[in-house]
Amino acid sequence: MDEVGTRTTDWMKEARFGLFIHWGLYSVPARQVNKGSLAEWVKSRERLSDDDYAAYFSHFDPDLYDPALWAREARNAGMRYFVVTTKHHDGFCLWDSRLTDYKATNTPAKRDLLRPMVEAFRSEGLRVGFYHSLLDWHHPDFPVDGFHPQRDDDEFKRSTAGRDMAKYRDYLRGQVRELLTDYGKVDYIFFDFSYPPSRRPEIWGGKGRQDWGSEELLAMVHDLQPGIVVNDRLDLPGDVTTPEQYQPAGPMRLEGGQSAWEACQTLNGSWGYDRDNREWKSPELLVKLQVDGVSKDGNLLLNVGPTARGELGREALSTLRRIGEWMHWHRESVYGCGPAPFTPPPDCRYTMKRDRLFLHVFSWPFGHVHLPGLAGRLDFARFLHDGSEVQREETDPSRPASTIQMGGRPAGTLTLHLPVRQPDVPVPVIELFLRP
Ligand code: GLC
Repeated sequence: MDEVGTRTTDWMKEARFGLFIHWGLYSVPARQVNKGSLAEWVKSRERLSDDDYAAYFSHFDPDLYDPALWAREARNAGMRYFVVTTKHHDGFCLWDSRLTDYKATNTPAKRDLLRPMVEAFRSEGLRVGFYHSLLDWHHPDFPVDGFHPQRDDDEFKRSTAGRDMAKYRDYLRGQVRELLTDYGKVDYIFFDFSYPPSRRPEIWGGKGRQDWGSEELLAMVHDLQPGIVVNDRLDLPGDVTTPEQYQPAGPMRLEGGQSAWEACQTLNGSWGYDRDNREWKSPELLVKLQVDGVSKDGNLLLNVGPTARGELGREALSTLRRIGEWMHWHRESVYGCGPAPFTPPPDCRYTMKRDRLFLHVFSWPFGHVHLPGLAGRLDFARFLHDGSEVQREETDPSRPASTIQMGGRPAGTLTLHLPVRQPDVPVPVIELFLRP
């Protein structure tokens, strides 16, 4: 909580919706090893050596890269911030780091790919987030462990046994200092990930806060970017909890009380571009994930995995545009909204801000929807996509149901009259104007 009483995460609760970008050398092999694995983990899954992987470095040539287009599409999809992989576990850097040669400027890309992206998104009014891997399978001082691509290579392990984690810590801190010094205001840093023996005993050589020097790193981060949001993967409590590829059952509670949270979700199961993966989630499912999240006080960070030529891809673009169409009409039921103190009807969710309650209908009922506890509480009700009135009815609970007359609803129930056909939007929303 800063001196004016605003939490660092307040802007996140206003924004509610961000774009995650996984882009790097793994966009060239563009494959999962086996179903359910992640394309960006190809070096580890296939136990590729640096020499094997070097082919992807010399063939990383994003000639169709247009960050202004990416930023525009994100804005039009209704996203209010973005988080990009500055460096993923393979150690490849999208920016022109002074601390390594393993960077975009030394590939056919021949330039810092991060700077134009930050400028493009910032000029579209989106906040800036950096994903930064704590792991580094390329760095000569990063000790081999149970996730490392050479974990089964005894000769490699023997020849690298003396690796000095302290040197790697210096490198990690040095690169984070570059990112938080050379690119203007950074609103969010998403470190990834810690696997200390206490939590991942099955992974030998697991690494946690001591290995990363997390306390010192965090102090430096706050010193360089006061007010920045830091996630929860440094093996230290974070400002935001980051569940991944699952939807929490309710608001996330941590020992310090309720936590801001942000679920990161893929479009098709993989973060990195995965050419043959057809498991695309429908725009409707993604809108429901977002609404469900807001109804539980959480955010959605939705991922794209651009291709090696620097494009978002047809499927990703059409999905973002369908979500954008829904957000065009319904953004007020998302931005700055949170949980409501009312129980929604089955297959519905409530989001709320000030005197507005938004009923999101996930499965279209026949003719009516009954809202427990809202009788006498509303001034007006309307569909948000077209502003048309939704008629309300408060029936006397003592009146029994009869052949042609509905009855038997609990006292305090408000009934809304609905058209037989669901309006042509993925998730219809009814805006309810609460009386003061
Ligand atoms: C996991 C994956 C990593 C991905 C991250 C996104 O940690 O291992 O590849 O970048 O999740 O949240």
